[in-house]
Amino acid sequence: MQEQDFIPQSKRDTIDNGKVTWQSPSNIALVKYWGKKENQIPANPSISFTLNNCRTVTSLEFTLRKDSEKKGDVFDFDFYFEGQKKEDFKPKIYTFFERIDKYCPYLKEYHLIINSENTFPHSSGIASSASGMSALALCVMSLEKQLSPSISEDYFYKKASFLARLGSGSACRSVKGKLVVWGDHVNIAESSNLYGVEYSNEVHEVFENYQDTILLVDKGEKKVSSSVGHNLMHNHPFAEERFKQAHKNLDALKDIFNTGDLNNFIEIVESEALTLHAMMMSSNPYFILMKPNTLEIINAIWAFREATGLPVCFTLDAGANVHVLYPEKNKKEIFQFIEDKLLVYCEKNQFISDSVGLGSKKL
Ligand code: PMV
Repeated sequence: MQEQDFIPQSKRDTIDNGKVTWQSPSNIALVKYWGKKENQIPANPSISFTLNNCRTVTSLEFTLRKDSEKKGDVFDFDFYFEGQKKEDFKPKIYTFFERIDKYCPYLKEYHLIINSENTFPHSSGIASSASGMSALALCVMSLEKQLSPSISEDYFYKKASFLARLGSGSACRSVKGKLVVWGDHVNIAESSNLYGVEYSNEVHEVFENYQDTILLVDKGEKKVSSSVGHNLMHNHPFAEERFKQAHKNLDALKDIFNTGDLNNFIEIVESEALTLHAMMMSSNPYFILMKPNTLEIINAIWAFREATGLPVCFTLDAGANVHVLYPEKNKKEIFQFIEDKLLVYCEKNQFISDSVGLGSKKL
């Protein structure tokens, strides 16, 4: 599908008002997206596990505006987060609406009330943009579906992912589960720069219900936002090699998903995490998002893996928190290790237990 396919062509029905609700999860990238071109086109393909427990639930109430209520060509909406009206969140949503205006011209015809809440603590340092933007994009698509009932399910989800991408790149991987690829890759059929697609090749059973224990090392606001970080990949001395490496790692993961080779899985996933942070450390200006306890955790995981041979590894997002990944069948011993040795490095011993999930759901 092309970008133009997401511009509605046919005449729409008229609906006076209604309400839709979606829940959508966060995701954790195995091959990372870091660097983008214009219009949120990724500089390299990425793949992620969709998560199950870290979710945003968003409802969208819409009421057709009377002509007399239309104050120029603007979006008219109120935003509530966890029951509180939030003016400071509105600019981000306004920018999102502006970006999707061309694809969703009906939005300006309505007064919108958006209510959003997360199942994970807001100030946990866990990015809520993937779950939040995908949940909102799905609500917008449910409105579109009511206005144009003939759109297919395939179109619905592709466009939801396409819109989510314009809110936050990685959000496009949250619409579906369990593994989602975003970005053109020669060896992954249907892969696209415009939206995420479910990884449809064979996946070994060891990856079923893969566990992700998220260690909350630092719950503060990030010092450098993802969008600033992405931009620093322009003119980055290692950018081209890094983008090539992501393609190669995705190829390697294809085989690994097929065979269930966890040693190679661990090698790729950890290398991707450290490469992401190496890109930050070698940007101009350079920056570091890891904290001393991030490194303590990484070293403890390596020591434990060496001592026990158990297939536990880490990955990182653009922050100090650590995602500890392991197969469900090793949950007992590995979780015991996390409790005994890793939680001391977390703020107030806090963590989130998560695992691979199926994607978004209409409520
Ligand atoms: O979606 P953004 O623009 O917040 O970028 C997120 C990028 C990483 O989380 C660091 C990696 C990824 O692929 O999710």
